[in-house]
Amino acid sequence: MRPNHSGIGTNRNRAISGLLACVAAALVVPASPLHADEAQPFRLCADPTNLPFSSDSPSQPGFYVEIGQALAHALGRPIAYDWYKSYFGKRTVRVTLLGKQCDAMIGLPRSEDFMGPAVIFSNAFAKEGYALVAAKGQAIGGVDGLKGKRVAVQFASTPQNLLASRDDIQKVTVLSPEEGMQALDQGKVDVAFIWGPVAGWLNKTSYDDRYQIQLTEGEGLSWDAAIGFAKTSTELRDRVDAVLPQLQKTIGELAVKYGLPTGQPVRFGAARAVPAGTTTGAGTHAGVSEVANVVATEAKGDAAAPSAAAVGAGKEIFNGTCAHCHGPDAIQSERKIDLRLLHHRYGDDTRDVFWKTVHEGRPSKGMPAWQEVFTDEQFDSIYSFLQTVQTESND
Ligand code: HEC
Repeated sequence: MRPNHSGIGTNRNRAISGLLACVAAALVVPASPLHADEAQPFRLCADPTNLPFSSDSPSQPGFYVEIGQALAHALGRPIAYDWYKSYFGKRTVRVTLLGKQCDAMIGLPRSEDFMGPAVIFSNAFAKEGYALVAAKGQAIGGVDGLKGKRVAVQFASTPQNLLASRDDIQKVTVLSPEEGMQALDQGKVDVAFIWGPVAGWLNKTSYDDRYQIQLTEGEGLSWDAAIGFAKTSTELRDRVDAVLPQLQKTIGELAVKYGLPTGQPVRFGAARAVPAGTTTGAGTHAGVSEVANVVATEAKGDAAAPSAAAVGAGKEIFNGTCAHCHGPDAIQSERKIDLRLLHHRYGDDTRDVFWKTVHEGRPSKGMPAWQEVFTDEQFDSIYSFLQTVQTESND
């Protein structure tokens, strides 16, 4: 499912200019060419491996990238890409969008709480959120529609919390939308209440469209997705808002193409939103930051609480591969290679440094590169394990 590539975690400004996509050519009239920056590329920040949203594969660029292409076309500008992994959440936005490496980031949650006032937004172009996945033909009208059913919920997600107090609904905790779909397919659950865009994508690509997917609505369950800009880009934002209505039909078609849940959302009553960011103390509205481009990979997001399974898997890899230099269980008296001090050393940048170092290594200093050896999921699990052993001092 993931395109093969090697530039992970680092900011590679691989601008591919001049790639003018005309998907929406027939539908869109270019904006009047009065602006001085007319020929400047419209620079889009996107994750190279985040389908269904974005990918650096030209044959399957993803929902957001195709919207960006249609948008660039409507603005009469060529498109350029700044690829950057979105695992780093808000940090990605800070480095790319606010660092002026791109003009726009598609799919941010339209909310002041999301990095406002530094980030400003276009009007919403879609709704994204958790969805109910089930065999076709079952209309689930809300929480009572789940009575007596076995329901897969993602660990530390709003749906898990929403159903926690319901003794008449049997919950099965899963760690990812992938696992939720598997549980459904293997008949272990009747319904999967999981992250909608990924569920839709998997339904389309791995399950022959066998399941129906209903988007849900309620606090912490879904958000308006919009296009984010740096706060100084009000003029561009206004021009994007002016052409967005012309693109709505194209966007609807793209949503179908990428399997995103469409149709009327199922309303859920007052849910206490559980932001996956709870553990980082990111505040009551942190759930908003879990959405979309930045965290479609919610279950793997930097804010997500490490699951016991991931910690266990990470520890096993660590002790099998990393321990002969970094010490068993990461216990190491030589400070320089004591990975229990990562957080102490790097603070908010810890994940970033970890990601870059394990992928690329520091060959001149004796730290090998591991990107050909492990998957991103495995790196995530190693990171989860390391999070459990952080300390301020190794004395
Ligand atoms: C052959 C020995 C060796 C192995 C095996 C090894 N490392 Fe390292 N690692 C090093 C050395 C040496 C450094 C310090 C490099 C430097 O001085 O900047 C390092 C640095 C690091 C750092 C950055 C530490 C910091 O504070 O900047 C991380 C993270 C890391 N290693 C993770 C891992 C992981 C995860 C594995 C297993 C997949 C691993 N290493 C396996 C030798 C090794």
